[in-house]
Amino acid sequence: MNHPAATPSKLPDVGTTVFTVMSRRARELGAINLGQGFPDYPIDPRLADAVADAMHAGHNQYAPMEGAEELRAAIASKIAARSGRSVDPIAEVTVTVGGTEAIYGAIQALVGPGDEAIVFDPAYDSYDPAIRLAGARAVHIPLEPPEFRYDWDRVERAITPQTRLIVFNSPQNPACTVASSDDLDALATLVERHDLRIVSDEVYEHMVFDGRRHHSVVGDPRLVPRSVAVYSFGKTLHATGLRIGYCIAPADLTRELRKVHQFNTFSVAAPLQHGIARYLASSPDLWDTLTPFFERKRNLMLDALADSGFTLRASAGTYFQLLDFSGLAPPGDLEFCERLLVEAGVATIPLSPFYRAPPPLSQLRLCIAKRDETLLAGAERLRHFAHSLSGMNS
Ligand SMILES: Cc1ncc(COP(=O)(O)O)c(C=O)c1O
Repeated sequence: MNHPAATPSKLPDVGTTVFTVMSRRARELGAINLGQGFPDYPIDPRLADAVADAMHAGHNQYAPMEGAEELRAAIASKIAARSGRSVDPIAEVTVTVGGTEAIYGAIQALVGPGDEAIVFDPAYDSYDPAIRLAGARAVHIPLEPPEFRYDWDRVERAITPQTRLIVFNSPQNPACTVASSDDLDALATLVERHDLRIVSDEVYEHMVFDGRRHHSVVGDPRLVPRSVAVYSFGKTLHATGLRIGYCIAPADLTRELRKVHQFNTFSVAAPLQHGIARYLASSPDLWDTLTPFFERKRNLMLDALADSGFTLRASAGTYFQLLDFSGLAPPGDLEFCERLLVEAGVATIPLSPFYRAPPPLSQLRLCIAKRDETLLAGAERLRHFAHSLSGMNS
C-alpha cells in the first residue's frame, strides 16, 4: 500500500484556538469559566418559541442564498430606525453563518495574492488566517497596552502600493476599547487617500458603556462605499450557538461577497432566520436593553474586584473586561493565565495569542456575559488569589 505524502498545510502555525483550549481545560479542572465569550444564562424563551414555530410553519428548506427576505427587511428597518440610514435589503444585506462567515467571505472577496491587508493587534483570531487563505499578506499593527490606542501615523506608514484592505473592529475584542469619532475620521482620511476597502467588525455594536456612542462605518458617508460592516445575532440575542450573522455593504461589494458566500455555505439555516425575524418584530426594545444589561454586569465585576490588587480599567465596550495583574506579578500573560486556571480555579483568556509579536502583557480578558453568581464566584476566587500573592488576608 502506498501511503500518501504528508498533507501540506496552508496554515502550518494554526492550532486549536485559545478559546477552545481554555474552555476544555476549565471543564477538566472544574474551573469557573470566564474565558471564552459565551453566556451561561438561558436565552429568552420567546426566541426558542419563535424558532420552533418557524419549523412547524414549514420553513425547513433552503433559504434564499442572500438570506430570508423577512430577516433582511427586519435588519434594514433596524438600521434605518437607529442610524437614519436607508439600506437596501435586497442589494446590501446578506445573512451569513455568524459574523465569522461574513468576515471570511468579505476578506476572500476583497483581497488576493500579492495584496496586503492591515489588521490591528490584539486582533480577533479569524482575520489573519482568512487573509492568508485568500493568498494575501496580513500586516499587523500593534495597539500598545494598557490603553490600546490607534496611532494613525503608524497606520499610514504601513500602507504600501499593495495595501487593499483594513480590518477594523470596534468595540474591540479583546482590548475592550471603543473607537472615537476622531478614529473614524482618521480611518476615513486614510482609506480615501489610499483607495482602500474596510471590513468593519461591529459585532459588539450594542455593548458600549458610560454614555459612549458606537461609531459605525454604516453611518459615515465617506466609509459606506468602501466598507463591509459585520454583525452577529449570536451576540445580540445572547445565543452564540445560533451561528447567524449578517453584513451590510454597498451593492458592488455585496455582489462580490455573495459569490463567495454562495459557494461556501450557499444559504443559512432557514428556520433560524424566520424565527429570528419574528422574534425581532416582537421585541422592538431589544437593542436598547443590551448596553444597560452588560454595563450592569461590568460594574458588578468592577465592584467585586475593587481593592483586590488587580487593576481594572473599566471596559468601554464588548462583553469583556480586562484584568490587569501588573500590581501582583511581572508581565507574562500566558504564565499568569495558567496560574489563575490551576491555582485560583478561574479560566481567563490571555492577549498574547491575539498579537503577531506580543509586547510584554499584564492583561487577561474576562467574559462578563455570565450569570451574576458566576461572576461573583469568579471574582471571589480572583480576590482570594490576589490576596494570597500580596500576602494579605482575603
Ligand atoms: C470581534 C469578534 N468578531 C467576530 C466574532 C464572531 O462572531 P460569530 O460568533 O457571530 O461568528 C466574534 C466572536 O467572538 C468576535 O469577538
